[in-house]
Amino acid sequence: GFVNTKDMFKKAFEGGYAVPAYNFNNMEQLQAIITACVNTQSPVILQVSKGARNYANQTLLRWMGQGAVEFAKELAASKNLKEIPICLHLDHGDSFELCKSCIDFGFSSVMIDGSHLPYEENVAITKQVVDYAHKYDVSVEGELGVLAGIEEDVSSDRHIYTNPDDVEDFVKKTGVDSLAIAIGTSHGAYKFKVEKGKEPPPLRFDILEEIEKRIPGFPIVLHGASSVLKEYVDMINAYGGKLEDAIGVSEDQLRKAAKSAVCKINIDTDGRLVMTAKIREFFAKNPSEFDPRKYLGPARDELIKMYERKNKEVLGSAFRV
Ligand code: G3H
Ligand code: 13P
Ligand code: NA
Ligand code: ZN
Repeated sequence: GFVNTKDMFKKAFEGGYAVPAYNFNNMEQLQAIITACVNTQSPVILQVSKGARNYANQTLLRWMGQGAVEFAKELAASKNLKEIPICLHLDHGDSFELCKSCIDFGFSSVMIDGSHLPYEENVAITKQVVDYAHKYDVSVEGELGVLAGIEEDVSSDRHIYTNPDDVEDFVKKTGVDSLAIAIGTSHGAYKFKVEKGKEPPPLRFDILEEIEKRIPGFPIVLHGASSVLKEYVDMINAYGGKLEDAIGVSEDQLRKAAKSAVCKINIDTDGRLVMTAKIREFFAKNPSEFDPRKYLGPARDELIKMYERKNKEVLGSAFRV
């Protein structure tokens, strides 16, 4: 079955690495995530977002996740590797009812994202989810601080960074198992506005350090952690795409975060870019093919490579099981 995040985060904290939290909406992404994590012997958190539930149906995704646990076992046995811990997590839950429905349905972890609410309302809804989830041994991620959206001017000070003065009170009052924070990342492929050829600003590690001091030993989560890998952005643009000024978080910044109290790193966009790049390349080179397996297969193979590299070279989660 699925495991919750407790043991995963304890080991990650002590080992100075971060567990990958990869989003999936379809079979090929799920196969790639599982294959890469078995091959690299990494724990993994499978994330289901609201968009994924709307696209693929919560029931189907939940049983695909269950199927993935069996697939992972078979794959590990066939390669004489160890079984890996797999967590099924609701990404950005926005109501108690949604979190409850995922908990009742067999998810082993949920996020209640009350970060847009006034502080006391965020505390209240998060505590409500925690009280329910903990009865079923399901872990809960809360969030403080707001990640800048792509529609905002991310170059200005519109990020609402997590206030370190709030974290101790929030964790105490809610009983959450992990805390997502805002230190300068954002979702999607356009995380920073920078002049051509210039580096994006570094993440606010000073804020992270202050947070670590206020809640020592507590697992932190980093959202919006795709690197928007240039290789795939370039491939997309070379084969007819139009992604201008796409930019993400550098892998060096992520390596540094993974060594800290950050125990979970969320990556979705990089997987989307890999699939799109390989599919565009395939169609450019094979205009007469029309069997989805012909173009989804190479996309899946490339995804496996990308996830394996993340686990080994960026998050440090490889060979930890
Ligand atoms: O939180 C953002 C994730 O990348 C999920 O996005 O709602 O489009 O599936 P989505
Ligand atoms: P990216 O868009 O950077 O991949 O972030 C994903 C995420 O935070 C999912 O919750
Ligand atoms: Na860590
Ligand atoms: Zn997120």
